Amino acid sequence: MVRKVMNNLQEAMNVQLANWAVLYVKLHHKHWYVKGPHFPTLHAKFEELYDLAAEKWDELAERILTIEGKPASTMKEYLELATIKEADKGGAESDILAGAIEDLKALVSGLEDTAMLATEVGDDATADLFIGQIGELQKQVWLLSATLA
Ligand SMILES: [Fe+2]
Repeated sequence: MVRKVMNNLQEAMNVQLANWAVLYVKLHHKHWYVKGPHFPTLHAKFEELYDLAAEKWDELAERILTIEGKPASTMKEYLELATIKEADKGGAESDILAGAIEDLKALVSGLEDTAMLATEVGDDATADLFIGQIGELQKQVWLLSATLA
């Protein structure tokens, strides 16, 4: 029973890991392809965000290893597992920004569900990791939303 519950948690963690991986690539797309009057600001912001994604992606993978799970580690797995969809090409500056906000909110929601699952199975350290990630993402949602306003 305990093993089964832990497996469910690890599977859910791998979905969020895949979301970070897809977001990491997608934020590069935005960094390279964004165009418009706010290019310098947005180009730099998306770089900051993909650096954040890289850090959180690795942090989560290492947490999965710490609890004796197996983090997904191939693009094939990430594309199968992720709930965040791959980037479309191009788009207006405001659309690219709105898309980023939408993705960050979706990730927050997934992380919240997984944090709850971790709490339910008594893995407070994993829940704590997710809660930290949620707080940082929520701040980024606020910053991007203020830019769009
Ligand atoms: Fe760059």
